[in-house]
Amino acid sequence: MSTSPKGTPGAEGKRAPVTIPQLLEMKRGHEPIVMVTAYDHPSAQVAEEAGADVVLVGDTAAMVVLGYDSTVPVTMDEMLVLARAVRRGLKTPVMIGDLPFGSYEASNELAVENAQRFMKEAGCDAVKLERGGQSVDRARAIIRSGIPVMGHVGLTPQTASSLGGFKAQGKTADAAAKLAEEALALQSVGCFAIVFEAIPAAVTEVLVAQLDVPVIGIGAGPATDGQVLVYHDLLGIFTGRAPKFVKRYAEVHERMVDGVRSYAADVRAGRFPAPEHSYSIDPAELEAFKGYLSSESLAARTPWDW
Ligand code: KIV
Repeated sequence: MSTSPKGTPGAEGKRAPVTIPQLLEMKRGHEPIVMVTAYDHPSAQVAEEAGADVVLVGDTAAMVVLGYDSTVPVTMDEMLVLARAVRRGLKTPVMIGDLPFGSYEASNELAVENAQRFMKEAGCDAVKLERGGQSVDRARAIIRSGIPVMGHVGLTPQTASSLGGFKAQGKTADAAAKLAEEALALQSVGCFAIVFEAIPAAVTEVLVAQLDVPVIGIGAGPATDGQVLVYHDLLGIFTGRAPKFVKRYAEVHERMVDGVRSYAADVRAGRFPAPEHSYSIDPAELEAFKGYLSSESLAARTPWDW
């Protein structure tokens, strides 16, 4: 099992772009797939430098970036602005656009149209949609139009209210069987990978063994072919209540507040800007300028002269 990022270095030692077929090879080679969300140019650059294999422009942007209460309100147009910024910061990971609530459910035509927008207007490599059932038809239609699709089962935040809230799924034999049917159906129509969210680890383990496509887990235990975490959660940028499955790898929010607080204190105390933050001017030029300001011709000007 390799711990280095996927993609062979090119001639200048640069990482080669990760491809969708490589994700399947990684599954087969038991090489864990690293996926993370990104929503703007700086987060894309971080994901790039850190060697992520897959970057999802997730609709979690609704909450962690745009300040909505859930993922439901975010629109396709809002997602496209974010996806375009991510594209500009990303070179090697597979980039996936997350179809937001309302952008694919109503018809296959709508689903294909919005998937195409992610590809044409934001340069995505693939799209993701949530749930089984009707979404399986949508996934099939998008794939037939030539666009790779990632599925998403278990806790599907866009429909959390009909699932009884943000809680683990597949906790009874019947519920686990429904998950199995959804995942197998998504695989059968050609999804190249499936996200498993908030599913008991033992259920995941059984299902992963039944699936040929990579399974990327978030709160689904260690048996998956890869893991995904929300950027703001893993870095501690978002300070709201985090789900049980989040592990924080940094406390960036506190560091940022400390930074802005120190800046504010420096400004208020007159410590910033210091001479090294200021531009200089040749003293003779400055004297000439002061002379100009105090000249009679300047004082004699009327508003119409300006
Ligand atoms: O929108 C998102 O960030 C997601 C991940 C949690 C998989 O769907």
